[in-house]
Amino acid sequence: MQKIWEVGSEFDWKDELVAPSVPSQWFPENYQLFATGTSVLLSIHHHLRPNGERLRLHLPSFFCMHVANKLKNAFDLCWYRDLPTEPTPDFDTLQPSPGDLVLAVNIYGIRKADSWQEWLSKQDNIILIEDHSHDPFSSWARQSTAHYAMASLRKTLPIPDGAIIWSPQNLDLPQPSPNESFGAYQKLGAMLMKRIYINGINISKDAYRDLQVKGEENLSQEINASASSLTANILPYLNILELRQKREANIKLFISLIKNYDEVTPLFTSWHNNSVPFNTILLCNNQENRNDLRKFLISKNIFATVHWQQPKDGLSSNDPLAIDLSNRVLTIPSDSRYSNNDIYQIVEHIIYFYQSRKYVTI
Ligand SMILES: Cc1ncc(COP(=O)(O)O)c(C=O)c1O
Repeated sequence: MQKIWEVGSEFDWKDELVAPSVPSQWFPENYQLFATGTSVLLSIHHHLRPNGERLRLHLPSFFCMHVANKLKNAFDLCWYRDLPTEPTPDFDTLQPSPGDLVLAVNIYGIRKADSWQEWLSKQDNIILIEDHSHDPFSSWARQSTAHYAMASLRKTLPIPDGAIIWSPQNLDLPQPSPNESFGAYQKLGAMLMKRIYINGINISKDAYRDLQVKGEENLSQEINASASSLTANILPYLNILELRQKREANIKLFISLIKNYDEVTPLFTSWHNNSVPFNTILLCNNQENRNDLRKFLISKNIFATVHWQQPKDGLSSNDPLAIDLSNRVLTIPSDSRYSNNDIYQIVEHIIYFYQSRKYVTI
């Protein structure tokens, strides 16, 4: 059987990722698990204002508009400037009133704790929520001083659903409902089918993609579902150390391979100790170039995504710098699923793309 070479998109299921050792020490002492990160954020609202009274939530101008759209149902949204090309947010643009909530995001997992911790130490009567979805186990996440910290775990861990919330300040946590999401089980089915597909057994790709999409649709409707039993039970046994080490090694290898090609620009080339970036992020010259590269990579079975596009029609932060970056970034999957050889192949394709368009002189 010929294995299928395919990079990116959702995780497939792999037994080897579950370590046969003691449950992991990576998690805080007290936490709650929800099906999705969005439902964690909505549940914080319900926890603080069970009568449904609206609250103001300050979001970074570089953020996922799909999530922001859902948050709009519970919160009045305000935006502060936070760009992934800068080491810290522009705190002058963040002016919360007493009682407001602020979401600090470790964008691409490359940020440090200190600027937010210093900012928080000067605030009175606001609630800081940190979003560690891009690196749930960074030193910032583990030394957080925020009121609440959360992460959508399914972005970086091979599980069908799951998001965590904990309170570094030991506040009461929102509780998920006892219901699990049907979407989680559709996603699990899709993960199993994807593995079969990648192993070269002739099942249709549409079949697992269809299940994936349906599962995601169902998950995105959830407002307070708990994480699936599978996620809750498997989570403490995931080999998080190995997953993180391989992800970091792959991103380092990627960056080292493109360093002599001026036209292939990584958004960042270094990060802090005990942080692992979300993925390799490329910054293209313009939107057309980014979209062409993305299309070319799809034709090579490399599914690169955009974190995050700000739609022309629809919700946007209206920050021109954030919008410009959102038009030019491309996330290249570099996580632990991929071997060194896979990374060489991905880089070869990217260089070929630029060479063939004479964007690069070798
Ligand atoms: C940074 C960040 N936070 C939160 C969320 C919400 O997570 P979920 O998709 O699990 O609802 C997302 C989803 O894209 C995200 O990228």
